[in-house]
Amino acid sequence: MNHYNISNPTDYQQAYKKSVEDPKDFWEKIAKENFVWKKQWESICEHDFKEAKFTWFKGAKLNITENCLDRHLATKGEQAAIIFEPNDPKEDAQHISFNELHKRVCKMANVLKEQGVQKGDRVILYLPMIPELAVSVLACARIGAVHSVVFAGFSSTALASRINDCGAKIVITADGGFRGAKTISLKTIVDDALKETPAITKVLVVKRTSQTIEMIEGRDVFLQPLLDAASEQFEAEVMDAEDPLFILYTSGSTGKPKGMMHTTAGYMVYTAYTFKNVFNYNEGDVYWCTADIGWITGHSYIVYGPLANGATTIMFEGIPSYPDCGRFWEVVEKHKVNQFYTAPTAIRSLAKESLALVTKYDLSSLKVIGSVGEPINEEAWHWYDDNIGKNNCPLVDTWWQTETGGILISPLPGVTQTTPTYASFPLPGIQPCLMDADKKELADATAEGALCIKHPWPSMARTIWGNHKRYIDTYFSAFAGKYFTGDGAQRDENGYRITGRMDDVIIVSGHNLGTAPIEDAINEHKDVAESAIVGYPHDIKGNALYGYVILKETDNSPEQVKIEINQLISNQVGPIAKLNIIQFVPGLPKTRSGKIMRRILRKIACNEMDSFGDISTLLNPEIVEDVVKGKL
Ligand code: WT7
Repeated sequence: MNHYNISNPTDYQQAYKKSVEDPKDFWEKIAKENFVWKKQWESICEHDFKEAKFTWFKGAKLNITENCLDRHLATKGEQAAIIFEPNDPKEDAQHISFNELHKRVCKMANVLKEQGVQKGDRVILYLPMIPELAVSVLACARIGAVHSVVFAGFSSTALASRINDCGAKIVITADGGFRGAKTISLKTIVDDALKETPAITKVLVVKRTSQTIEMIEGRDVFLQPLLDAASEQFEAEVMDAEDPLFILYTSGSTGKPKGMMHTTAGYMVYTAYTFKNVFNYNEGDVYWCTADIGWITGHSYIVYGPLANGATTIMFEGIPSYPDCGRFWEVVEKHKVNQFYTAPTAIRSLAKESLALVTKYDLSSLKVIGSVGEPINEEAWHWYDDNIGKNNCPLVDTWWQTETGGILISPLPGVTQTTPTYASFPLPGIQPCLMDADKKELADATAEGALCIKHPWPSMARTIWGNHKRYIDTYFSAFAGKYFTGDGAQRDENGYRITGRMDDVIIVSGHNLGTAPIEDAINEHKDVAESAIVGYPHDIKGNALYGYVILKETDNSPEQVKIEINQLISNQVGPIAKLNIIQFVPGLPKTRSGKIMRRILRKIACNEMDSFGDISTLLNPEIVEDVVKGKL
């Protein structure tokens, strides 16, 4: 039996049972019957948790772009693959058919080849949400180059560190990007970054804003003339199942971002499978995920998952508040969107606006609405369900991570009874468990602990680029024989409810921020001796950042220092990481081993100052009172 389409609770139970009892047969059937392969696999899954080695579909040969493009041409060549909705509603949307997308990808692949890009080379994509971004992603995959998309909101320093970490030689960027009423000077940021990246020899530039930019002779080239001259044919490279497909950076608990490396076959099978089922996508539907392709959500559920299913996927260049806060709903009406997938932070900000901005539009095309990126609070859940889904669309709260490649825990439309704030039940193939502090698995139906996954799944990241040891340490050492997600969760008859991060990662507006790189940026200020940041609950962002900063002797005004600190953060990490509150403190609570006790700082920032728990291991307990007194 093929379990590719799950349409009722019985299908789900059967598929889930099968996936646990015989995962190899389960995935083999799905892989065989729903994708095109150039050569079959020798085995389905081999794994070694201790060494963190995972192999899926060993020895199989394929090209993911043939699965996303070529195989659809005969049956739906003229159907829209991508609908591009520009930032400015006055600019026309573009319907890019599968035929057209195939042509554009082949042309881009030819250009990259001519520019010297070879199989295995890393290519940095620093682009706004324009069709060229999706085309470049797919062109890399077509020639077997490894794409690393860097979100175009990241600063030049963040861009440079990613370029250097993955050893890229080429960058594809744009002159600038439109974001609401603003224009972002992307090329200038690239120019700054490239002062620190000696290996980059080529920069291919898309014209989007037509603003004046500097072009460095020999290094910088406009893309369009090259594309115009390139052939529309490109024979897809034969890739191994485990060849790297992309590297995507995510924050960790040290300053250096982690380059999560995903490979080809398992990623393709799992993202396609989950896209089909979580969104209940059917032929002819129009699907819209509002994320940026700079995040994993965009990789898996704007580009690869939808296209592998021959779906029509919308790429939106703009922001939810431009020209006004009805933009999302205007686009839903305009393109008759059937599945809509966004983040809680967007929902919370739009829920603050007048309902007239929603009711003005016809949202009756919607069948499924989704949420991703952080826990969705009950109020936001209900607002979304009532006003957007009209209590008539299943709301899928999808839990997953950059590391997991695809959605692991989520309701399925028409299958799962949804409960606000619950990501609910694992998808077929996913075996979650909860662990206690003694590293024992909690077996009771109702429990709370560290969320782990006990069996490999096809789209899991295979390593951290250049640092396999860090991969083992971060994900496979806390609990032997299991993948540790870093999240805490509760479980009861409604399934799993994610409670939040257990490590030094803070999620702000759905963006995963590590404390370390932000503290590094603060500490660069010449007047700063030391700093620590924590998250505290915020109405719209979910969490906002609270910084505790120890100043050196200085003649500068504290207000000036605060401005400069946020400027540094903005330059080094990006504007999303700016601090909402900065408190100057005489010291930070530390353990004897010198580790900052963030737990205490978090409680102070959250106004939970009645009890600090055990502070007996503190080196300087008296400092706690000082920090409390100065609370802002
Ligand atoms: C972290 C991963 C998955 C793509 C976007 C974020 C949190 C994500 C949910 C959800 C509760 C969620 C977790 C996770 N998270 N989705 N539905 N409910 N928490 O990817 O940047 O790798 O962040 O986001 O804490 O570990 P990411």
